[in-house]
Amino acid sequence: MSLPQLLMLPGPSNVPARVYAAMCKPMINHRGAEFHDLFERMTTNGKKIFKTEGDLIALTASGTGGVECAASNVLLPGEKVLVPVCGTFGERLASNFRTFGANVVELNVGMGRAPAAAQVEEALRKDREIKAVAVIYNETSTGTTVRELPAIGAAAKDHGALFIVDAISVLGGDDLPVDKWGIDVCITASQKCLAAPPGVALVSVSKDAWKMIERGKPRSEYFNLLSYRQFAEKKETPFTPAVSLFFALDEAFQMILEYGVDAWIARHKKAAAAYYAAFKGMGLTFFADEGSRSNVVIAINMPPKISAKEMRDRLRKKYGVVVAGGFGSLKDSIFRVGNMGIVTPREVITTVSATEAALSELGFTGVTGEGLRAAIPVLRDF
Ligand SMILES: Cc1ncc(COP(=O)(O)O)c(C=O)c1O
Repeated sequence: MSLPQLLMLPGPSNVPARVYAAMCKPMINHRGAEFHDLFERMTTNGKKIFKTEGDLIALTASGTGGVECAASNVLLPGEKVLVPVCGTFGERLASNFRTFGANVVELNVGMGRAPAAAQVEEALRKDREIKAVAVIYNETSTGTTVRELPAIGAAAKDHGALFIVDAISVLGGDDLPVDKWGIDVCITASQKCLAAPPGVALVSVSKDAWKMIERGKPRSEYFNLLSYRQFAEKKETPFTPAVSLFFALDEAFQMILEYGVDAWIARHKKAAAAYYAAFKGMGLTFFADEGSRSNVVIAINMPPKISAKEMRDRLRKKYGVVVAGGFGSLKDSIFRVGNMGIVTPREVITTVSATEAALSELGFTGVTGEGLRAAIPVLRDF
């Protein structure tokens, strides 16, 4: 038997059949009329999901390509960017800016916590030279979401700084009205809450961001935003895009819009509430502080004396459910369940019950069945 695995990872997430089917369409000319139609529809629909009137650029790259694109276009070498760090992806964001010559001011917040607007305001007050604030909205490594993101955006604006947000693991899975929250550059990727395969990064660019970008010489040929803007006028990309992945993402966007963006986000919230109730019901605890727990990555502390690796292996091999471990120092002490894209009671019930079964087989002393019992009422009106 080779049943498809249930991918309950913080990306890539499960891909709906209609999105897979779209990828199998015959190839088209990326400089031809069919591509122009695809480009126009995908961009228009993507902007509705981002809730932006700004520009939206699709890159053939994973999410990191989107981050490199922002880091290589927006700031001039030596300019200061404030980056709150509370996990692996915050560290990577800071490192990406450093690679392209920015002067990074790190605000260390502590793992499992999210930066508060007051901390960002204070850091900005201390340093008038900061030109941009770059934030990971959902720190995937720790299951933490920055609930004060709008206030952080307002603080950046008050300071006259550009507001850059890495929303790679969360756009489509939690509230993120890009224009309303004053986000100048917002980055996401196809393989998370947008329910498409990996390979496309999306970057929104505001008018203020273009002003910053127009000052500099490009430091990346492939990610030169000015050439993406120029080619967008012809409804094309500067280089050959991953056309099949564009077909997939185009279909995923249509699916999300048919469903309704807010309803799509609401599903993630409801499923998240069921996961938190279930794991708590099982007697487990969470890594992130209560006020900043993520709706799209549930990070759970491993119960004592049970190996995370053994549990994950058992879940995968016996139950066909794939969950993630932790990063770095958290490798064996937490496990992470992705709640992204296709989130229905089936994913929740299967993941919770398989986890209960695997843990009980490995000697967990909690009462098996309590997780499911706690999840069921939360899922009643799904
Ligand atoms: C917040 C965040 N930033 C950046 C990345 C890197 O994205 P990718 O692996 O698609 O390059 C990830 C991936 O999980 C992420 O969650």
